[in-house]
Amino acid sequence: MLDKTYTIRATSNIAFIKYWGRRNHELNLPYNSSISMTLDENLSATTSVEFSDSFKEDMLIIDGKRQDFSAQSEKASYLRRALEHARKTAGLNAHALVVSENNFPSGTGLASSAAGAAALSLAIVKALDLKIDTREISKIARQVSGSGCRSLYGGIVKWHRGTHHDGSDSFAEQLFDTSYWPELIDLVAIVTTSSKKVSSSEGHTLTPRTSRLYDLRPKIAEAEAKKAETAIRNRDFNLLAEIVMRDSNNLHAVCLDSWPPIIYLNDVSRAIIYAIHELNENYGKNVAAYTFDAGANAHIITTQKHRAAVEGTLSSINGIKRVLYSKQGNGPRLLSEGKSLINDEVIRHTGIYKY
Ligand code: DP6
Repeated sequence: MLDKTYTIRATSNIAFIKYWGRRNHELNLPYNSSISMTLDENLSATTSVEFSDSFKEDMLIIDGKRQDFSAQSEKASYLRRALEHARKTAGLNAHALVVSENNFPSGTGLASSAAGAAALSLAIVKALDLKIDTREISKIARQVSGSGCRSLYGGIVKWHRGTHHDGSDSFAEQLFDTSYWPELIDLVAIVTTSSKKVSSSEGHTLTPRTSRLYDLRPKIAEAEAKKAETAIRNRDFNLLAEIVMRDSNNLHAVCLDSWPPIIYLNDVSRAIIYAIHELNENYGKNVAAYTFDAGANAHIITTQKHRAAVEGTLSSINGIKRVLYSKQGNGPRLLSEGKSLINDEVIRHTGIYKY
């Protein structure tokens, strides 16, 4: 399927049980399984891919900026590997042009790597017409960005840690589609717009290597992932909320115990934590759960019914710049050719042609 453009829109996800720490850096294999909720198109990445024998090199353009594919960085090598893996499977040598755009509200400091990795992997597979299922595609996405493998499905998704050395059993699968518990929503409180000092990629290496508490985390997270699955199956928000908050706290505890320490939360994040506990106490049960990824911005998981109460609570906290709303998303979709980010003008501008 050379010289044809495929465009995928994929969305971000928020982990209820988080991935933190890699047991294998080459294949991006995690120490524990993780569970997330896929977000809606308010937080999405759109990626167009075209393979052609006329291209002289691989080229990646994100939000209008050409990325350095040849760089020795971990991310560049993951991307190269994803392309090489796909080319090998398809038995092709053609180079690829990848153009990606994020619709993440600018200046929110929200990472877009999960959405981008899912969109990229799926677009590559479509462009090369590879006959592989979503589970196999999730193994490609996992190598581009771990959390990205969970964005290949909508609803509630689990990334199985797997035990095989070759990563063959480390893949993502959907646990529940969006219709199972549609009331679940995410309110994202934007606390900071600056980028984090320690990338999650660095944290995945530093924490297992240096934290003396980390040995406990995979065991705890694995057990909590099973409990979270049951809580969701039973639509037991009270229990799910406790699991989600404690997993976030556990992750930030091992981050603080890393050496040098990794500190993502700030005073506003902590004010949010206290406020959510107070809100839950007032209700006599958990109606909301905070969870923080590798940054100070808070994701508040709640239900439609308690959206206004959570928004009210957040509005009383100084330092929150903005609150975004997301319901559960349905997963990636193929866009029509008219929506492609690659056209003759873009191609001419890149100078990617051999001649
Ligand atoms: C805290 O998936 O961003 O958000 O594999 O290096 O791309 P890479 O890391 P990434 O790590 C995500 C960490 C997290 C937890 C989670 O989403 O599971």
